[in-house]
Amino acid sequence: MKKILAIILAIIVISCNSNNKKLSSPDGKININFGIDNGVASYSVKKNNSVIINESEMGILFSDGTDLSSNLTINSSSQKSFNEDWYPIYGEEEKINNYYNEIKISLTNQKNEFDIIFRAYDDGIAFKYVVPEQKNFSNYDIIDEKTEFNLSPNDSALWIPAFSYRRYEFLHAFSSVDDISKDYFSKNVEDISYDTLGIDAAHTPLTIKKSDGSFISIHEANLIDFSSMTLAPRGQGKLAVELYPWADGIKVKSKDGINSPWRTIQIANSSSELLNSNLILNLNDDPDEDKDFSWVKPGKYMGVWWEMIGTNESTWWPSKNHGANNDKVKEYMDFASEHGFEGLLVEGWNKGWYPQWCCSGDGIPFSFTETVDDFDIEMLAEYGSKRNISLVGHHETGGQIQNYENQLENAFRLYNKYGIKNIKTGYVNDVSKNIKRIDKNGDVIREWHHGQYMVNHFQKVIELAAKYKLNIITHEPIKDTGLRRKYPNYISREGAKGQEFNGFWTNGVNHATDLPFTRMLSGPMDYTPGVFQLNNFRYDSPETKNIDKGAIVPSTISKELGLYVVYYSPMQMAADLPKHYSKHMDAFKFIKNVPVDWSERKILNSEFREYVIIARKDKNTENWYVGGITNENERELEIDFSFLDSGKEYSVNMYLDTRNTHWKENPMEYQIREKIISSDDKIDIYLAPGGGFALEIISK
Ligand code: NOJ
Repeated sequence: MKKILAIILAIIVISCNSNNKKLSSPDGKININFGIDNGVASYSVKKNNSVIINESEMGILFSDGTDLSSNLTINSSSQKSFNEDWYPIYGEEEKINNYYNEIKISLTNQKNEFDIIFRAYDDGIAFKYVVPEQKNFSNYDIIDEKTEFNLSPNDSALWIPAFSYRRYEFLHAFSSVDDISKDYFSKNVEDISYDTLGIDAAHTPLTIKKSDGSFISIHEANLIDFSSMTLAPRGQGKLAVELYPWADGIKVKSKDGINSPWRTIQIANSSSELLNSNLILNLNDDPDEDKDFSWVKPGKYMGVWWEMIGTNESTWWPSKNHGANNDKVKEYMDFASEHGFEGLLVEGWNKGWYPQWCCSGDGIPFSFTETVDDFDIEMLAEYGSKRNISLVGHHETGGQIQNYENQLENAFRLYNKYGIKNIKTGYVNDVSKNIKRIDKNGDVIREWHHGQYMVNHFQKVIELAAKYKLNIITHEPIKDTGLRRKYPNYISREGAKGQEFNGFWTNGVNHATDLPFTRMLSGPMDYTPGVFQLNNFRYDSPETKNIDKGAIVPSTISKELGLYVVYYSPMQMAADLPKHYSKHMDAFKFIKNVPVDWSERKILNSEFREYVIIARKDKNTENWYVGGITNENERELEIDFSFLDSGKEYSVNMYLDTRNTHWKENPMEYQIREKIISSDDKIDIYLAPGGGFALEIISK
């Protein structure tokens, strides 16, 4: 990562003289107030003088009795400004500006010392706790983080439940902040009343719509060696941090001090402004100087996959309908390589699959080095290499972490041997507090999917994968907190209800327009767009092959194309089967052409939960791509092309819904138009109910 212009404008050390500290964003619009009252620390945030966060308490409690939440005084503080442009090796923009003011406040509870560091950016704020190693601590195990986000009872939240049966795979609830609960979710979104294991809380990123129409998103950045943060309602608009505990109740275990993740609040006047923030990446670090990630290459892949999870015509496990067989894989490779894809995912290639493989965490453990009989990895890798396409590896762990970690190095070596560059990993294991950990005494302990044990597991995989020059795409992951800046090989992840739920269940028609305002705020998603056969695609079983008339993907072909631009991912999948693409090769052309690495991002228009239009400029050419998606409502939206270079001509290929297209009644009707445009043009585009569009704008 190349850096220019790193300026630390000023460092001012201020010794203790007051109980209040203030920090403003570089543009002066966002203001943080920190204070100590009766020994208790709190902060509040305003933007343009309107309250974003009311006075909210801070602090940490430790298992050895140390209390860093009361009896506090300020020892000293120091302030600095930082302004740097940095250049990610891939991304949504080729240059990112990281400009903030920072205050480090050193505090004491009269026995122990720690720092709270605040940063104020033009697009939000962040803070973290740093507890250095010191005397008077017998350990640094955290039993509670006391951070609060004190909103208004009038603020509404778009949220998914934490501490629940599934991990992040839920539709969203939209309610008052105080209504965040399993009960509310069960009554209004999906019945999870059976799910009594954990407390009422929401995952982050949590998006808040304020009554004045502005937006904030609460999340965290740089989640390393810590437990992941959830937000629990405390009444009157107040949310409090709840960390996922270990099975013994400790939230975070540490022997040498605490360096918490950043607690982040992105603040935006409009929904489009919210989508345009780089705050999370800016709060992460560059790769270590001695680490070279130039081998990480974004790309597109297809997969022997939808026919198991979507059309249900094949099995993961050995059977007469086994998907991952040599002939089938060769056919997919022929198609995918002919159309320029870099990778082909093959699931069900290894030993351990059987009909009941999912989802207890107790099944037959998978092997990550032994292939099934009808999958010849050596022959297929060679077949692919002659056609310029490599296998995308697959490691479904079933949540059996120890089993996976025991084989990790050998599994990576095997993939290195066969030229595999990307691995999709999976952690299906329901009940969520069901991750088997074998402790020192050989006892089986069940951990949460999002606690420190799993955060550390994901970290271990990513670091070892980097050693073997492998990229990781995780399904059932830990949420994205921007680690791809330091570890670019953590290239993508799912971490929400993705397309696959449309295969075996349904996401409904309005989920796709919620994701940009929630999950996508955290980073790239392996949503797996590009399903063209949107109805009559699913069989009741691979044996009987009767069409399930009720199964639909609630989308349109043009919307599926638009998703490649709206949902950013450096590894994008074309999820459907070659035989389905073959029927619509003119529309498939867009998937072939759409880039995965960008130099610029423009949020052209959006309305929270209604529609989104994003333009992205290809990193390697002067071409632009525009994607638009709408919820169940049809609409006509104007595209203003003034973002193009003036005085130039562009030819635009437009992939559009027709007036007859409808996500439910007629999802596969589309039209393709060509036009010559310039930056002076404006075009009205019709989006059908549940539909969308995609534009390829080629510089002439
Ligand atoms: C769940 C993943 O999300 C899905 O993509 C995968 O096919 C199955 N697990 C099997 O690994």
